Amino acid sequence: MSLKIGVIKGDGIGPEIVTEAMKVLDKAGEVYGFDCSYEQLLLGGASIDVHGVPLTDETVAKAKACDAVLMGSIGGDAKTSPWYKLEPSKRPEAGLLKIRKELNLFANLRPAVLYNELKGACPLKEEITEGGFDLMIMRELTGGLYFGERKTEEVDGVMTAFDSLTYNEDEIRRIAIRAFDIAMKRRKKVTSVDKANVLDSSRLWRKVVEEVAKDYPEVTLEHMLVDNCAMQLVRDPKQFDVILTENMFGDILSDEASMVTGSIGMLASASLNETRFGLYEPSGGSAPDIAGQGIANPIATILSAAMMLRFSLDQDKAADAIEAAVSQVLKDGYRTGDIMSDGCTKVGTARMGDLICERIR
Ligand code: NAD
Ligand code: IPM
Ligand code: MN
Repeated sequence: MSLKIGVIKGDGIGPEIVTEAMKVLDKAGEVYGFDCSYEQLLLGGASIDVHGVPLTDETVAKAKACDAVLMGSIGGDAKTSPWYKLEPSKRPEAGLLKIRKELNLFANLRPAVLYNELKGACPLKEEITEGGFDLMIMRELTGGLYFGERKTEEVDGVMTAFDSLTYNEDEIRRIAIRAFDIAMKRRKKVTSVDKANVLDSSRLWRKVVEEVAKDYPEVTLEHMLVDNCAMQLVRDPKQFDVILTENMFGDILSDEASMVTGSIGMLASASLNETRFGLYEPSGGSAPDIAGQGIANPIATILSAAMMLRFSLDQDKAADAIEAAVSQVLKDGYRTGDIMSDGCTKVGTARMGDLICERIR
């Protein structure tokens, strides 16, 4: 069977980590009897360099024609990269937001799992992480502050910037349904995170989530204010199963959740629409500080490729095998620099990819 995968290598460490994920997909294909054909797509800084814009209609059309898209990360160093001399709507991040919107990728799943073997890389005390934890952040990805009206203008002689935060009931309902569906396959608990003590959009969020919850009597729903959630994630991450939240809160909480698992280099993600199509990318960025050195952790991208096999491509066994190979490599004591601890063997990006391939069976 042949799977058509769009590949956005992106900027910074993007090409390095995506190369490893493709290697792993090819190996999984050999073992599980499928064959990946890759279509290279340009997004972000790489697209600006060629076309002058971070996303072209051609990239969108080609992405839509694929079974799924695998992406590295986009963007550069805002201080030094020429991309940031362009107006905001032409910068790399604008391309990422636009492709999310164009492909209607409203559901962003970011699983944060503490592997037993990575306890040494987790900054929390051992009594907090005993037994590990496994939570799923369900982040709304095509609404809220990221997509509201934006302007900067003089008001009464003072420069003033506006960003508006809007959610309608339908946008809230569809992401809530996704969160409850996922919770049904997990430990049946949803923590909906908002700022309902201040924001109207959060009060509507709570009301709609309560309505959706009525269709899932087996799932326990709790509401939590976002500031408290940020605190609870480091106080007791084990309390969470599915965290359901809006776009900006999900962005911030997922970086926090990644660090309690050891590193942003471990956090995979899937961005899904109403169909089986999805865009799969690590949650972290292009890490310009370490780009080109061959030391980035490719595991988040490799685990994102596993999510792609599971959610978009009907290859559950291959996805399980990749996840097992990642666990095994960690058990065997191999680490990239970001997750290094005493007694382990430090390896670079490509070696980590090879070691994972060797363990796929
Ligand atoms: P970042 O996630 O790129 O880096 C933060 C820190 O984490 C850095 O120290 C970096 O070296 C480290 N890090 C990140 N990924 C790593 C990996 N795989 N292995 C080892 N270490 C890793 O965040 P930033 O520095 O705030 O942003 C850099 C650029 O990336 C910006 O242009 C930003 O807009 C962009 N960005 C893109 C995405 C995306 O494409 N989805 C996500 C986040 C940030
Ligand atoms: C992420 C990133 C993006 C976001 C940026 C690069 C626009 O931080 O995917 O988490 O904020 O969504
Ligand atoms: Mn982010």
